[in-house]
Amino acid sequence: MAEFTLVTTHDRLDLCPQVATLINSMWPMSIYARRAMLERSHPLLPCSLVLLAKNLPDLAQEAPPIDRLTTDGQTILGHCRVMSLGGPKGVLFEIVVVDEQHRGKGFGKILMQKAEEAGKAIVYLNTTDKQAFYEHLGYHVCDPVTSGVFGGKVQTLDQTPSTEPKLVWLKKEL
Ligand SMILES: CC(C)(COP(=O)(O)OP(=O)(O)OC[C@H]1O[C@@H](n2cnc3c(N)ncnc32)[C@H](O)[C@@H]1OP(=O)(O)O)[C@@H](O)C(=O)NCCC(=O)NCCS
Repeated sequence: MAEFTLVTTHDRLDLCPQVATLINSMWPMSIYARRAMLERSHPLLPCSLVLLAKNLPDLAQEAPPIDRLTTDGQTILGHCRVMSLGGPKGVLFEIVVVDEQHRGKGFGKILMQKAEEAGKAIVYLNTTDKQAFYEHLGYHVCDPVTSGVFGGKVQTLDQTPSTEPKLVWLKKEL
């Protein structure tokens, strides 16, 4: 029976190199900067959450890449970063990613559910292409709550260049 655990990178600094590699496989940037971001995780936010699994049922047939295995034999499945929006507005989830080898198996849903349990607030997020995934998990389109960071540039929605994908904001009240 698979067991899933959500840990923070400030409690598990040993995971930072592997989680940085996982995130960078989706959104490449300096691996040192990515590791530094993960190492700066803090209970008072921003905080980096990592979904770990042990006893995955298909491990016998499909061994995970070695850089996704923790020293205690768990598999690193995904990451979600929780940002403060300041005051009572809620929190922002960003850098939501499941390891490519393990997508489409329900782990993204588990990651979001566990991150929501940890968040205990109104959760906001934004996306250019995963609106359907988040709506499937109970999120609803809402007004933007802050400027977005997209393509390495900070921009507000009304300044979104027309050539770039539109940033959609979503919200879920827990
Ligand atoms: C988006 C992502 C996190 C989803 O994780 P996943 O593990 O593949 O998703 P799951 O298998 O847990 O899917 C959960 C449910 O959402 C549905 N779903 C998954 N992706 C979907 C999509 N793109 N559109 C609509 N529904 C989707 C699944 O069918 C499943 O439905 P079910 O509960 O009825 O069976 C993953 O695909 C990923 O890491 N993508 C690359 C990074 C990325 O784009 N992140 C989002 C940035 S905004």
